[in-house]
Amino acid sequence: MSHHVQREIRYNFEYENRIRACFIGAGGHAYRNVYPALRYAPVELTGICDLDIGRAGKFAKLFGAERAYSDHREMLEREKPDLVFLVTSYHPDGRVQATDLAMEALAAGGHVWMEKPTAASLAEIEELQAASAKAGRMVMTGLKKTFFPTIEKLRDLIGSPGFGQLTSINVRYPQSLPPLAERGDLVRMQSFLDHIYHPAAILNYLGGRIERVSYEWEGRTGATVTNLKFRSGAIGTLHFAAGQSGGSMFERVEIIGEGANAVVENGSKLTYFRRADLPSYGRAASFIQPEDNAALVFEPEHSLGQLYNNNLFYLGYVGEILHLTDAILAGEPITKGTLEVAAEIMKLFEFYKHTDSGVLTTL
Ligand SMILES: NC(=O)c1ccc[n+]([C@@H]2O[C@H](COP(=O)([O-])OP(=O)(O)OC[C@H]3O[C@@H](n4cnc5c(N)ncnc54)[C@H](O)[C@@H]3O)[C@@H](O)[C@H]2O)c1
Repeated sequence: MSHHVQREIRYNFEYENRIRACFIGAGGHAYRNVYPALRYAPVELTGICDLDIGRAGKFAKLFGAERAYSDHREMLEREKPDLVFLVTSYHPDGRVQATDLAMEALAAGGHVWMEKPTAASLAEIEELQAASAKAGRMVMTGLKKTFFPTIEKLRDLIGSPGFGQLTSINVRYPQSLPPLAERGDLVRMQSFLDHIYHPAAILNYLGGRIERVSYEWEGRTGATVTNLKFRSGAIGTLHFAAGQSGGSMFERVEIIGEGANAVVENGSKLTYFRRADLPSYGRAASFIQPEDNAALVFEPEHSLGQLYNNNLFYLGYVGEILHLTDAILAGEPITKGTLEVAAEIMKLFEFYKHTDSGVLTTL
């Protein structure tokens, strides 16, 4: 199965069957990245809800929803949506607002598309799994990194004849982990919870389930380096590079196979170093490899007003919505952003929350 989907995108109004949807949250991320992505999805927005009714009204006008609400219960009851988008924030105690809202949306009969984080604990994910099963409705978390065309292409390389199996992986991502004594406080852990979903989603998507972990922690910035062993036998590192420059490219992912490797830098540039022999050591005068073994580079052009060079696409925002709407329309289950994947991410979160550096732990 190919993970990188080369599809022709249809515009919202071109779909004959559009899913009746409501949206809870009229905040910054939703404005920049989620409502605009709906222009390319089979979704008919009937209601938008925000605690700030003024924002809900302005968003409704701008993004074409019929009605604005400040009470999500009233909206769910009146609109009876088949799909509910949740892009909200945190409770004062650091719990995730969307976890509770997802439970209510399921109870009202809707499928749920929600931003990460799905929840602030593994126990809450398990409650969502039970509620989803009971309602017969899906809950998808928008794990956008698993919809980057570059990361999907890495997934396709793994197991391919040229690349072989994944043997090791490293992911670098800037994130600080507070001192152990503070990690019981979800407010202190909010940034870590908010961000761990991104690199952990990549690790799960490319490497599968993690078997065991241990990490080292640096006290000035809260940086960590984690050793990982996957159930597949592959190994890896997760480097939370707190302390890197705010002007730096953000993240880097490298996968190593059996005589080949591939790197994604800056989210949108993929270099695939195909199988090749080292030129004869100490004797070769040229580094030029035969074309059949030369590296392949994938990078978007930035001249044309295309979809693929727009961040709604290369950062996966449209793909993560189409994955759920495709599944709903086809009556099939989702395979990405599932609650099972969210549970794996939360196991890793809880490991960092409870475990001191240097301690080898089976997840
Ligand atoms: N994947 C990404 O690239 C990415 C990037 C940024 C943020 N996010 C996620 O998006 C979410 C939102 O982040 P943000 O920075 O836009 O937050 P925000 O605070 O700007 O927006 C949240 C909005 O939700 C509303 N809200 C909360 N509870 C509500 C309720 N019960 N009913 C109606 N409205 C309610 C608030 O009034 C607010 O307008 C977070 O989960 C964050 O992790 C994801």
